[in-house]
Amino acid sequence: MRGLKDKVVMVTGAAQGIGAAIARRLHEEGAAVVVADRNVPGAERVAAQIGEAGGRALAVALDVASREQWTAATARVLEAFGRIDGLANNAGLTRDRSLLKMSDEDWQVVLDVNLRGVWLGCQAVIPHMIGHGGAIVNLSSESRWGAFGQSNYAAAKAGLVGLTRTVAFEHARHGIRANAVAPGATATPMIEAVPEEVRQGWLSNIPLRREADPAEIAAPVAFLLSDEASYITGQVLGINGGSII
Ligand SMILES: NC(=O)c1ccc[n+]([C@@H]2O[C@H](COP(=O)([O-])OP(=O)(O)OC[C@H]3O[C@@H](n4cnc5c(N)ncnc54)[C@H](O)[C@@H]3O)[C@@H](O)[C@H]2O)c1
Repeated sequence: MRGLKDKVVMVTGAAQGIGAAIARRLHEEGAAVVVADRNVPGAERVAAQIGEAGGRALAVALDVASREQWTAATARVLEAFGRIDGLANNAGLTRDRSLLKMSDEDWQVVLDVNLRGVWLGCQAVIPHMIGHGGAIVNLSSESRWGAFGQSNYAAAKAGLVGLTRTVAFEHARHGIRANAVAPGATATPMIEAVPEEVRQGWLSNIPLRREADPAEIAAPVAFLLSDEASYITGQVLGINGGSII
């Protein structure tokens, strides 16, 4: 893909799952990759694999819900690579519970990581893109339309759409694009705990009749971060096997 070679791209939540797949795909496209996660050994493993494959990767400790850690992580990236061209705000988590059983803590942690964490990431990184431009991709979800047991997660992932479009509007003049992707069910550790009957229910609503492989989310994310997507901003791309909720 045009425009990723030698670019410096940060991926949050990159120690496993979709984030690790994004990091690997960006490396394959010639980017230098920042593997950021609060799971530091996991991030170091992914960065080491990319290094062994001949790429440039830096593992960075980052809890996306902490402004201080964003400041430190960004400084570390600038020290190592001198610039930041791309950001995939991928870190996320779920704390599923039906509305009436959901605790304040379940609500707060999911909003802090999935929504505030992305807002903090944009605030931390965009100042370093102004001057040369850049691209941001935020991981929303099909759950943004509402999903059983996910009032917290659905609110966060729907909120991400408004946040993404606002970033796109405010920073188009700086040559910075911002888009979101909304994956459907994807085979990662995040959905391992979902009961089999629930998963079968999902599959019956997916025309392609299977969950996504993380690499199938990573490819469109890399595209949106690349110059191939130079006229695409403020959009939400569903990656969902054709399902219409
Ligand atoms: N798997 C799916 O079916 C699916 C569907 C739609 C959207 N998504 C979204 O895609 C993204 C990746 O999901 P996944 O399935 O790979 O999840 P995962 O649980 O497999 O991986 C998430 C990664 O994020 C990291 N993380 C969690 N909280 C963090 C924090 N506060 N700071 C830094 N890192 C943190 C974890 O350590 C982990 O490495 C998430 O935003 C998720 O909401 C996933």
